[in-house]
Amino acid sequence: MVELALPKNSQVKAGKHWPAPAGATKVKTFKIYRYDPEAGGNPRWDTYDVDMDAVGPMVLDALLFIKNTIDPTLAFRRSCREGVCGSCSMNIGGRNTLACTSGWADVPGKAVQIAPLPHAPVVKDLIPDLTLFYAQYASVEPWLHTDTPEPQAEWRQSPEDRLKLDGLYECILCACCSTSCPSYWWNGDKYLGPASLLHAYRWLIDSRDEATGDRLDALEDPFKLYRCHTIMNCAQVCPKGLNPAKAIAEIKKMMVERVV
Ligand code: SF4
Ligand code: SF4
Ligand code: FES
Repeated sequence: MVELALPKNSQVKAGKHWPAPAGATKVKTFKIYRYDPEAGGNPRWDTYDVDMDAVGPMVLDALLFIKNTIDPTLAFRRSCREGVCGSCSMNIGGRNTLACTSGWADVPGKAVQIAPLPHAPVVKDLIPDLTLFYAQYASVEPWLHTDTPEPQAEWRQSPEDRLKLDGLYECILCACCSTSCPSYWWNGDKYLGPASLLHAYRWLIDSRDEATGDRLDALEDPFKLYRCHTIMNCAQVCPKGLNPAKAIAEIKKMMVERVV
């Protein structure tokens, strides 16, 4: 398992402690990163001793329980609750993952420690600012580019060509990979990062796309693509089991093949 640096941990002080209710028999401690730009005392670790008897099995269930019954000020993102929307990504027990598909009983350590995705500005508590991440995704122009006139019905693709997109199209843009990548930590403003490059490759190998040369030209840059050093954190943390490092290696191969 990849252990990741948390957001400037050394500067985070202990915060409030909510003890378990009297008579609770199944208590679990949650240590949660708190930051509110409009409040003092930032940032801090708040501790919640939760009676797990009424709580579902996932970390997101515990966060919703804490917010609904203990501390309504706790802020986090979530939507689908089934690993599809990518909005509940956070750092749980030292690993970037989805809160809705991670069981709290499986988190190593006595307390379940939860922080926002590392190395992204924090909007509030567990909510990272992903503006740059989405801008980088948009920069790879993740849609079909064609010159030939549009067909009457649909752009057709053989089953074999469609299969080439498996392992790529499933990305839910959770940013777990990019925010676990050391190269992205240090050069996030210039290196596109694993998620955007995975999507760049998805369009590069789409048999219907007619802008392969332009797409490769746009990536031919010392930082955008070549900052990947195959450290593989991205593939280890992806909650959908995807391998952005492999996609990046394939783009590099396409770059070489077009000049030989
Ligand atoms: S393989 Fe590349 S993209 Fe993935 S974590 Fe390592 S440096 Fe980052
Ligand atoms: S490749 Fe995986 S970890 Fe990265 S954004 Fe997509 S789903 Fe999330
Ligand atoms: S809430 Fe949608 S992925 Fe977790």
